[in-house]
Amino acid sequence: MITEYREYFYTIIQIAKKTPLKINRLNFIRSAATLATLSMTEIGAFAQQKSIETKDIISPTNDTYWRELRQLFPLSKDLTYLNNGTFGPSPYPVIDAMREAMMDQDREGNYGGYDSTPGKIAKFVGADESEITLTHNVTEGVNIACWGVPLKKGDEVIISTHEHVGNMLPWMTRMKVHGIVLKKFKPGNTADETLDNIKKQITSKTRVIATPHIPCTQGQVFPVKEICQMAREKGIYSLIDGAHGPGMLVLDLHDLGCDTYASCTHKWMLGPKGTGFLYVRKDFRDTVQTYYGGAGTADEHWDLITDPITIGNYAPTGHRYYGGTQANGLYKGVNAAIDFIESIGIENVHNRISYLGKYMQDKLLDFGKDKIEVITPTEDRSRCAVNGFKVKFMEHSKLYEKAGENKIRIRIVPECGLNSLRVSTHIYNSTADVDKFIDLIKKLV
Ligand SMILES: Cc1ncc(COP(=O)(O)O)c(C=O)c1O
Repeated sequence: MITEYREYFYTIIQIAKKTPLKINRLNFIRSAATLATLSMTEIGAFAQQKSIETKDIISPTNDTYWRELRQLFPLSKDLTYLNNGTFGPSPYPVIDAMREAMMDQDREGNYGGYDSTPGKIAKFVGADESEITLTHNVTEGVNIACWGVPLKKGDEVIISTHEHVGNMLPWMTRMKVHGIVLKKFKPGNTADETLDNIKKQITSKTRVIATPHIPCTQGQVFPVKEICQMAREKGIYSLIDGAHGPGMLVLDLHDLGCDTYASCTHKWMLGPKGTGFLYVRKDFRDTVQTYYGGAGTADEHWDLITDPITIGNYAPTGHRYYGGTQANGLYKGVNAAIDFIESIGIENVHNRISYLGKYMQDKLLDFGKDKIEVITPTEDRSRCAVNGFKVKFMEHSKLYEKAGENKIRIRIVPECGLNSLRVSTHIYNSTADVDKFIDLIKKLV
């Protein structure tokens, strides 16, 4: 079956090779025809013709399919990239969409053109178009939500001990400026334990739970649905740092029940760097004050000519939080990133990266606690594509260095004094990438 699929894949690539390209013949892979190789319809037709199951071709364990897929990324062949948690390399169709849109804009003098992006993101994450604000990164979305919610001196905000600076400094700054109080919870070894640890921090003064969905440190998937439900029952706002949610998990923000969700499209969605979004639940919009005014942020009832000046309403959508000229090319890239993931199927992506995450975790656990301490929970619902670990047999920075020398890119985790390492895998990775990293550790132990 695997050999047959290879044959099919190469046939499509041959077709793509012959397709006249606008950009560069060598980059044949960039053509839309190649993208079609990923589409479930194509694969379905092929599977039917060969009397095999579609799910077998695109199954999480079929390394062949995913290895072929890597050809759609410009990632250097000799690079083992295990750092998707920092940013996700884009595939060619995303880079091309960006380039084409930028060329088009500069050639034709067209303005705008990114109006379709909030709707596309909304559909991808289970929200309404009016609930999506375009941002440049997670940090921007966290800041909009953090500064927008009404808080006074002494009000308490619960964050985790595993924060990225992007969900820490906004709250610490508000602490400095407005005298709010920050309370901290530790991630537990299980979802229930984490929920319990948060519960213990709640007092009559708690106004906000501002937790990551998945912290940057060790990739633990927090039980956000339960956290938000608990918050809602107690009249507490739930403002989620969702840096690692979309593209890794199958998301339905309405079902998750959070008040806001700040995320980006440059990590697990494999989109252009410097693009993100903030979800603000529609019934929560009027609770989050905008401090940003400009083109697009207000309705038409604002008038400087009248006397007195007419003050109207804010835009009745997430557009009230951003205004002015946007990077059309980048947002065309975001649209293409969503198309790319959807052509594979977000469930298929999620299943594959969960599989690789567990594959990595099992291999790290095999070293034993005296050599490697895995700090990501082993509970199924609490882990996915990211693993954090502490090195017991040498300085963690030394292992990081050695990985770099071997063209394996991982991340050091200085956050919260953890001094650990983090490895994260996406669809362009294979088990061979994991094995290469594990073999390096074996040589050093
Ligand atoms: C959990 C978490 N929150 C926030 C951020 C900040 O993201 P950005 O650089 O898009 O603002 C990151 C980045 O790695 C992160 O991992």
